[in-house]
Amino acid sequence: MAVQMPALPYAQDALEGFLSASTLSFHYGKHLKNYVDTTNKLIAGTADESKSLTDIIKTAKGPLFNNAAQVFNHQFYFESISPKSTSVPPEVLAIIEHSFGSLDEFLSKFKAAAAGNFGSGWTWLVKKGGTLSIVSTSNAGCPITDGFTPLLTVDVWEHAYYLDYQNRRADYLAKFCEHIDWAKVAERLV
Ligand SMILES: [Fe+2]
Repeated sequence: MAVQMPALPYAQDALEGFLSASTLSFHYGKHLKNYVDTTNKLIAGTADESKSLTDIIKTAKGPLFNNAAQVFNHQFYFESISPKSTSVPPEVLAIIEHSFGSLDEFLSKFKAAAAGNFGSGWTWLVKKGGTLSIVSTSNAGCPITDGFTPLLTVDVWEHAYYLDYQNRRADYLAKFCEHIDWAKVAERLV
């Protein structure tokens, strides 16, 4: 079955003040669409056509891994964002405090990791066992290949923020942290 273009969970202009409609138009409408289309071209007529997206990611190498993982990563990223500020559910706060000491400490470490993620990539909050950790991946890297359960991700490829923030990645990250969909993080925790 072909990989589907994921739905954007809000209007393209819903994040104005954080990300412009122009950024979302290119990022969602062009970049993600290209990853979906290329994945489908690569799996057409092969055994991978019948696999789930995550099964493809766990086994593929090279261009197929890169494109399939970018579909997963982008869907995960867009669904990590809320147009409005959300509160952190108690069960999420408890495991964050257990793992990082406090919510502020987590946010500070997450932003520092994402700011220091050299070049193009992703910074993630992940779970393994009963503990959370922060991992950064390069290019299309995806933590499910290392057995982690991802809870949150931020895209630090320049295409994610350059139209709105140019080289000011730290400003983009600060705004991102104000727009985390914490209810989605809670959903992913179970
Ligand atoms: Fe991206």
